[in-house]
Amino acid sequence: MIRADDTPAPQPNDPPTHKLWGGRFDEPTDAFVEAFTASVGFDHRLYREDIAGSMAHARMLARVGVLTDAECAQIVKGLQDIQLDIERGDFAWIVAFEDVHMNIEARLIDRIGEVGKKLHTGRSRNDQVATDVRLHLRGAIDRIGQELTRLRLGLVELAEREADTVMPGFTHLQVAQPISFGHHLMAWYEMLTRDAERLKETRARVNVLPLGSAALAGTSYPLDRAFVAEQLGFDRISRNSLDAVADRDFAIEFLADAALLMMHLSRMSEELILWTSAQFGFVRLPDRFCTGSSIMPQKKNPDVPELVRGKTGRVYGDLFSLLTLMKGQPLAYNKDNQEDKEPLFDAIDTVLGSLRAFADMIPALEPDRARMRAAACQGFATATDLADYLVRQGVAFRDAHEIVGKAVRHAQNAGCDLADLPLATLQQFSGKIAEDVFAVLTPEGSLAARDLPGGTAPNQVRAQIAAAKAALTAP
Ligand code: ARG
Repeated sequence: MIRADDTPAPQPNDPPTHKLWGGRFDEPTDAFVEAFTASVGFDHRLYREDIAGSMAHARMLARVGVLTDAECAQIVKGLQDIQLDIERGDFAWIVAFEDVHMNIEARLIDRIGEVGKKLHTGRSRNDQVATDVRLHLRGAIDRIGQELTRLRLGLVELAEREADTVMPGFTHLQVAQPISFGHHLMAWYEMLTRDAERLKETRARVNVLPLGSAALAGTSYPLDRAFVAEQLGFDRISRNSLDAVADRDFAIEFLADAALLMMHLSRMSEELILWTSAQFGFVRLPDRFCTGSSIMPQKKNPDVPELVRGKTGRVYGDLFSLLTLMKGQPLAYNKDNQEDKEPLFDAIDTVLGSLRAFADMIPALEPDRARMRAAACQGFATATDLADYLVRQGVAFRDAHEIVGKAVRHAQNAGCDLADLPLATLQQFSGKIAEDVFAVLTPEGSLAARDLPGGTAPNQVRAQIAAAKAALTAP
């Protein structure tokens, strides 16, 4: 965003700024308006997609006889050289040319002369920018998918090492029942797997070619749209030119996926922050993922998860920016749509950075198994197991619940766990309790008992892990 006090004063030896659309204008654009309406400051990021799209368009124009083969070759070569210039850092982005599209086109004309003026035949910046953004987002979705796979693989491998590790499971953040740490990690895996599926489904709706829609109504040239789609790797061409240049629902859909993904990373972050605290002490984070305090020498802060939790807010904001951007727009393209890029790029960068940090960090977690087990033995985590035991001895569940509640109160007053009460004491609550009760009161016994698909018994966790590994390595 250009602020009023940033308005660049035109300098006498500024580069040429002949507008590509200047024909009907009587006076030059106001200097501030020029800066205010320009997008090149952020959309130059689309240069690769813009050049790829232009090359495909030029080749198609030659194929249908609008350009000669020689003209096409000159244009393609000019575009290749421009790409090299940009990548060498030898390309001045000029605000007067407004955006990435007109900067590249102006440079092309500058480089190859008259023939460069033929590139824009049968095309508008409206279908051009929609194409560029779709190509860019497709690439971003693929990179996000790769980082997600790396993170999911890290979770599965850690879960495999920790399938037998006992930890307390929580509801209301109160100790509920013992669970396998591997089971908890596989819950995270499931959340992220749905995120990966959502992105894949979104990709199919992103991967549609708008070029050929021109400004809004299509074009009078006999364009071969299928040929362009094939060259650019699009699955299909858009069906309606007005819709193709106007809507950004595909970007909003991506941002909704991104918001959900960040919501999951944020929940994982919150747990890691709790677990690394002195009070929980369930896991340690290696120093390379933490920072210290400038005043408190003892501090080691879990900055990576904290920052990911914080960054979740920006991605929610990006989603709301785009939803609000679109809601009042009449068909077809409006300049409002230029505002789609910064939130979209911000979300892409934030998601990629957060995933990268997590994918690096998860395999490095150092669980403290003894602390986790000790925590699982507090808070009467096996009370449900005692009730289930009584049910197996013929007691109705509601009665068993009542009996165990009384035993819990007794143990609480005695300052010990259910498993620490002598058999004779337990038998005061129910004559159905026998020596074998102690097997169900250990956290390991509690885990092993939940031996059904989706349950926390370590062999069930291993079955989840095996299925996840197969899915991750499937093509
Ligand atoms: N920079 C513009 C954008 O990002 C490109 C399309 C401009 N089209 C137009 N008719 N002014 O949306």
